[in-house]
Amino acid sequence: MIEPHGGVLVDRMVRGEEAESVRARAPSLKEIRLRPREVSDLYLIAIGGLSPLTGFMGSGDYLAVVDQMTLTNGLPWSVPITASISTQDAAGIGLGEEVALKDESGRTLGVMIVEEKFGYDKAREARQVYRTEDGAHPGVAKVNEAGDVLVGGPVLCLADAFDVEFPDRNLTPAQTRALFAERGWRSIVAFQTRNPIHRAHEYLTKVALEIVDGLLIHPLVGETKSDDIPAPVRMRCYEALIEGYYPKDRVVLSVLPAAMRYAGPREAIHHCIMRKNYGCTHFIVGRDHAGVGSYYGTYDAQAIFDQVDMARLGVQILKFENTFWCRRTGAMASTKTSPSGPEDRVFLSGTKVREMLRNGQTLPEEFSRPAVAKVLLAWAAGNRD
Ligand code: ADX
Repeated sequence: MIEPHGGVLVDRMVRGEEAESVRARAPSLKEIRLRPREVSDLYLIAIGGLSPLTGFMGSGDYLAVVDQMTLTNGLPWSVPITASISTQDAAGIGLGEEVALKDESGRTLGVMIVEEKFGYDKAREARQVYRTEDGAHPGVAKVNEAGDVLVGGPVLCLADAFDVEFPDRNLTPAQTRALFAERGWRSIVAFQTRNPIHRAHEYLTKVALEIVDGLLIHPLVGETKSDDIPAPVRMRCYEALIEGYYPKDRVVLSVLPAAMRYAGPREAIHHCIMRKNYGCTHFIVGRDHAGVGSYYGTYDAQAIFDQVDMARLGVQILKFENTFWCRRTGAMASTKTSPSGPEDRVFLSGTKVREMLRNGQTLPEEFSRPAVAKVLLAWAAGNRD
């Protein structure tokens, strides 16, 4: 079994008496209200998805991540995991003070010892992590909206305080690891997605399945852009697809409760690190991974791994060309395998797919399996009314 990132699977969830104690002291503590993305990060820290982090980053790790794509100990890490507050709120919190962590509705999620409070350069973070300062970029917009002071320190979380979506499909890293061991899988490929699985996605996962023991279909179900297809609809698509088109004993479907950052190349590394913690040895990176608009080149998310200490990352990256249905050969293909020219290639953009669904048009079978197209069409019909 692959080691968690940094060697130890973190568990910052408290239960039983320890949870009682957190609950008892939380009301008397100052509070920090976390934004939805910060809540997702907090949950992932607590279940070990962001191992070796045990809390929100301090200034050392923050700067090392922004400028060098590592933690201070040299371990690869590509996106800051931070909690922000206003300058005014920061003034009221002492160093070493324990604070209650709450969501926007005021529910207590856990506690944190504030070891550090520090200002930061948002424009620099945007340039380094997102490669743009454009406020129209959804990830940069979140950086701009965040508070002006970051607070770092270790956290403890209440296991039953989080609203987890798809609870029967939400395996923790410890649970996926146990499941892989039970199935006797030694090599496992993770597939990150925030979309329904169309033929191109299916092709990547099946090419990968030819060389590894098992596949983790690991859709991200935290916060996404409003025009991305909602997670419950996507889950119905994945279930229909696995039911009809995959060898079920070689596939695990479980969710990643993370928020999308749309940081393209940097996020590809981040997605990979989380899947390593879930026990995966291989990770798929195709075209424009975690991209948005035209901020990133088609293969930037593959090229960035050249700047990563791959020995310390320890995961094999499976890089795929842009894939499409090739009419000439009657199969899925990429420019590496297809003899045809562009006129024989079926490739639909996300925008085109949304437009077809809006108009009640069914998606071509070369693009999407009928079982998936059916779920999407039913959802789009509901949406139109
Ligand atoms: S992402 O934001 O999670 O990257 P998406 O769900 O569309 O978006 O993609 C999931 C994975 O499939 C990513 O690694 C992406 O690069 C890859 N991918 C999506 N479509 C294609 C395609 N047509 N050809 C090659 N790779 C693709």
